[in-house]
Amino acid sequence: MSHESPLIQSLRTAVAAAPTDVPLRLHLAELLLGEGLSDAAVSEAAVALQHAPGDAGARALMVRAMGMPAPEAPEAPAAPAPTGFDWRAAEDQVKDAVPPRFVTPEAPVPVAGQGDSDDAAVWEVDTPGSVTLADVGGMQEIKDRLEAAFLAPMRNPELGRLYGKSLRGGLLMYGPPGCGKTFIARAVAGELGASFMSVSINDVLDMWMGNSERNMHEVFETARRQAPCVLFLDEVDALGAKRSRMHHGGMRNTVNQLLTELDGVDGANEGVFVLAATNVPWDVDIALRRPGRLDRTLLVLPPDAPAREAILRYHLRDRPIESVDLGKLVKVTEDLSGADLAHLCESASERALLDSTRTGTVRMINMKDLLAAAKEVRPSTDPWFASARNVAMFANEGGMYDELLAYLKRKRKL
Ligand SMILES: Nc1ncnc2c1ncn2[C@@H]1O[C@H](COP(=O)(O)OP(=O)(O)OP(=O)(O)O)[C@@H](O)[C@H]1O
Ligand SMILES: [Mg+2]
Repeated sequence: MSHESPLIQSLRTAVAAAPTDVPLRLHLAELLLGEGLSDAAVSEAAVALQHAPGDAGARALMVRAMGMPAPEAPEAPAAPAPTGFDWRAAEDQVKDAVPPRFVTPEAPVPVAGQGDSDDAAVWEVDTPGSVTLADVGGMQEIKDRLEAAFLAPMRNPELGRLYGKSLRGGLLMYGPPGCGKTFIARAVAGELGASFMSVSINDVLDMWMGNSERNMHEVFETARRQAPCVLFLDEVDALGAKRSRMHHGGMRNTVNQLLTELDGVDGANEGVFVLAATNVPWDVDIALRRPGRLDRTLLVLPPDAPAREAILRYHLRDRPIESVDLGKLVKVTEDLSGADLAHLCESASERALLDSTRTGTVRMINMKDLLAAAKEVRPSTDPWFASARNVAMFANEGGMYDELLAYLKRKRKL
């Protein structure tokens, strides 16, 4: 054992901790094989096959490991050593100039009217977009969390595999309305070069028995066909039994269906990244928050100064403005949400327009318009913080709202 590389040793530790994780064990077997330790590779492949008898990867590896000449009984290898021209490498080199040999069939698109319910929903998927985290102004803490939870393991598959188990769960974003949850989810998809599928749970729910479950399954199936895909589940609180419009039994089945889909079977969710969001996390079904599910929370707060600057810049980009002091505007817009800032720019434009029609001379939007608008716009997040404050103080179960409490303290709202 002492001649094993450090990587193999740590993989052994990981496998011992997660003995039923077949991909992890196969990864170890692959490395052992690479080091010429074919006996060890055979025994790992054998255990993998016990856990997953039909696994093609495990079988192939077993065949290769057994085909290797064992040190004590040197025989001719079963398969001839690969020699000659490397077609695969050559193909790879010319792939930009020469069309592929096979066209990849397009993934089947669900069609309305198919299946047994005659109004089967069609779930829209956006192809990989151009919005990335670089477009999200400020909010460094959020970016760091996302980097650790989603992006780093994706960029480094080795790491991802090693920590695969602990990263299986999804992330629940919560916070006041209009502060960037949807925008951030879209940016994560762009960052991963993944498709983006945004689904409101309210659209999944159907008053007919069984239809909600079928819709939920269809949503995940669509995401799987489009993998890599970020599946953004908005308004997950709609599944909370507390505010349910439906009788409990029906809702419970829908929650269970979501749990089944989240858990996946046989790596079915490979390349599907679930991000969920809610404005009312205290209404989210507790079963969804268990380990391995939506077990991590991310508080998305009103935009900080750099974020406000990015948002203001974005909304002013196509408007006729003059001498706008963004720094000053950022200072007087604390606590405004992204949506409030959009509204501010809108009303400043209206002021300038009204003025122009009144005087008959066209003029640009200036600081005066913007500052006046800033005075009028009230933070739309105030009511949210008022109710969130109570929950955070009196129902902070498992420290779920620690992040929120820290913010309220910092803001002296506690
Ligand atoms: N950090 C940011 N940088 C740039 N734009 C932002 C940022 N945060 C929010 N925005 C902008 O603010 C707007 C509102 O954000 P978004 O719709 O994502 O909020 P939300 O939290 O999903 O709201 P809701 O709870 O109402 O669904 C978006 O159009 C987005 O362009
Ligand atoms: Mg949203």
